[in-house]
Amino acid sequence: MTRASLTVDPAARVGPVDRRLFGSFVEHMGRCVHTGIFEPGHPAADERGFRADVLDLIRELGPSMIRYPGGNFVSGYRWEDGVGPVAERPRRLDLAWHAVEPNTFGTDEFVAWCRAAAVEPMLAVNLGTRGVQEAVDLLEYCNHPGGTRLSDQRRANGSPDPHDVRVWCLGNEMDGPWQIGHRSAAEYGALAGRTARAMKMLDPRIELVACGSSNSGMPTFGAWEATVLEHCYDAVDHVSLHSYYDPTGKSVGEFLAGAADLDRAIDAVVATADHVGARLRSRRRLGVSVDEWNVWYYSAWDPEAVAEWREAGPLIEDTYDDVDATMVASLLVTLLRHADRVHLACLAQLVNVIAPIRTEPGGRAWKQSIFEPFAAIAGAARGDVLDVRPRVATYESESGDVPLVDATATYDEASGAVALVLVNRSTEPAEVAVDARALGLATFDVRLDPVSWRLVRPGPAAPPGS
Ligand code: AHR
Repeated sequence: MTRASLTVDPAARVGPVDRRLFGSFVEHMGRCVHTGIFEPGHPAADERGFRADVLDLIRELGPSMIRYPGGNFVSGYRWEDGVGPVAERPRRLDLAWHAVEPNTFGTDEFVAWCRAAAVEPMLAVNLGTRGVQEAVDLLEYCNHPGGTRLSDQRRANGSPDPHDVRVWCLGNEMDGPWQIGHRSAAEYGALAGRTARAMKMLDPRIELVACGSSNSGMPTFGAWEATVLEHCYDAVDHVSLHSYYDPTGKSVGEFLAGAADLDRAIDAVVATADHVGARLRSRRRLGVSVDEWNVWYYSAWDPEAVAEWREAGPLIEDTYDDVDATMVASLLVTLLRHADRVHLACLAQLVNVIAPIRTEPGGRAWKQSIFEPFAAIAGAARGDVLDVRPRVATYESESGDVPLVDATATYDEASGAVALVLVNRSTEPAEVAVDARALGLATFDVRLDPVSWRLVRPGPAAPPGS
């Protein structure tokens, strides 16, 4: 039995819970869009081709914001291909995933689908093969009310009101040699800065995300962020970080210790951004957008899957187990713990492609194990995040010494609601003594199964342990 104790105290406030921490991601990759969220002719599809069975599951999952259309896909994407009469849209080769893209689902369909799913859209612009002009054109198409060629085009295409997209990514993983149009940090930083300034001239209300590193193991991690931000610090609001975790060949403890890597990577990005801000004598403080994170069995990647040019062929449809669900809970604990600086985060992806939701073409839709921690924690986290680091033994891992039990809590002063998220990384049961007297609650114990997570909502209405 592992024994731990922690204190829940409203004085130990980290920062407000930004609902956008519970975002997700839809990419034109594999079957995420086609036969995932969009399948004209499916028995559950509406007249627009949106699968109602999938929409029901997404509402239950409760993401706040969805990033689109990529991912690597965006770096070769011409947004104009995906708007206007469907019969006139071109079929194109997608170089990123070696696929054929029919373009029957594009920006207007995505925004309409977001409204149906009750989520906020987050769009990425192509800074791989394209630049400032195309990014500004897409922004004008989306956000300008009317009276110009592009905004009137949107109106003629069936969207009289502006899409009002507030959060935009300036490209995707531009540090990665695999990225179409990959370039040096200085080249990308200059392009991101020019694009950001022009986009904000058009719509100053938007928030912009500059590409940070594709993962903290990149040889350029840290140096990339420093150089990029030297060029665009004044014009962007967030810097991105992507983080995937592969369980293959690792002990459970080693795999779950990955959350400590995410902790450190976020700290490193924040420190780097603040260092650049200090050098520039800036009073602005940038946020971190962890806009792709999840468990991904990437060592199981099958090159045969992209050997031929296929339309909506299945890609990385990983099946998750309960250990993966514990890892997702653990990564959410880490993200919440950084709520003072991490304001945006996207579970990647949403449907079929490394996703909490799977579908069969023409058939059923179902939840995977990772659905539950995301839905439970997104549904319960309200108010402020509190720092509740457990007092508990640690274990050695390649990620350093990692606590056997991890936790975070949120407290909503207005309603008095408390949500405590606990993760047991140990292969033994754990007992956690919780001192919540500072909130006027009793002290209580929570028992956790080996390698598990639990959401506890103590309070008068919901007894401890419920
Ligand atoms: O989510 C799958 C892929 O992972 C994305 O396209 C890319 O951004 C990342 O490398």
